[in-house]
Amino acid sequence: MKRLEGKVAVITGGNSGIGLASACMFAQEGAQVVITARRRDILDQAIEVIGHGAIGIQGDVASLEHHASVAEELKRRFGGLDIYMANAGVITLQPTAEVTPEDYDAQFNINTRGVFFGVQSIAPLLHDNASIILTSSLAATKVLDGHAVYAGSKAAIAAFARNWALELRARRIRVNVLSPGPVDTAIIGKLGISDEHRPDFLKLMSDMIPAGRLGDAEELARAALFLASTDSAFINGIELHVDGGMSLG
Ligand SMILES: NC(=O)c1ccc[n+]([C@@H]2O[C@H](COP(=O)([O-])OP(=O)(O)OC[C@H]3O[C@@H](n4cnc5c(N)ncnc54)[C@H](OP(=O)(O)O)[C@@H]3O)[C@@H](O)[C@H]2O)c1
Repeated sequence: MKRLEGKVAVITGGNSGIGLASACMFAQEGAQVVITARRRDILDQAIEVIGHGAIGIQGDVASLEHHASVAEELKRRFGGLDIYMANAGVITLQPTAEVTPEDYDAQFNINTRGVFFGVQSIAPLLHDNASIILTSSLAATKVLDGHAVYAGSKAAIAAFARNWALELRARRIRVNVLSPGPVDTAIIGKLGISDEHRPDFLKLMSDMIPAGRLGDAEELARAALFLASTDSAFINGIELHVDGGMSLG
């Protein structure tokens, strides 16, 4: 029996990287997958890659209207859902002195507010025993250069998870955090590092990781599948660090 047979799973930021790898794995394990993201063309390509009747809903997690329309479409098509992976995220590295209020809002609106109101809007549709997975970051607990705003925007996620795990306990809904270390996805290219400097950057990161390398999206997807499935039925409110040991040093 497939591990997510008969389940409806929604993954925000599901057209790329960790979200896409998780969407593929959830679909292979029998789930009806719904992904969301802003870029329609990349969303359409991802739907093809995922297969298994996956559905894409375009929108911005910073928008409350988007969350309302996702909830409405889920209700109309499926009546409810079993897995919600709030994974969409952005990163901009800047020293604190250079951060403008607009820079601050851009990361918090997506990484923090987007998670909060996403969960708020789908919570009424979650079936009993559902699983919520929130993608945070190693940066939430480890100090890294230029990460202050991003780290702050991700640090709230663990607090949300712990509060929601108790708020939703009567319905046996579990809420856990997936906390990746550096993973080789498109987000690395969005850090403003040129192709020329990318190998040096990857080497620098690898040297900081006990595993001696970055993670790949599939390794994160396997951890997400664990949190989504009944394999983790007795696990609630945790932060699962999938970082090759980088949080240790
Ligand atoms: N890769 C890493 O090293 C790493 C480490 C720690 C934590 N993380 C976290 O892991 C999550 C996934 O990152 P990734 O590495 O897979 O990066 P990615 O490949 O860049 O994927 C980010 C995803 O988020 C979506 N997204 C971004 N802003 C959005 C918005 N406002 N509304 C809706 N969707 C939005 C993107 O799609 P569109 O652009 O089409 O909207 C994309 O699907 C993020 O939360 C990130 O912070 C990543």
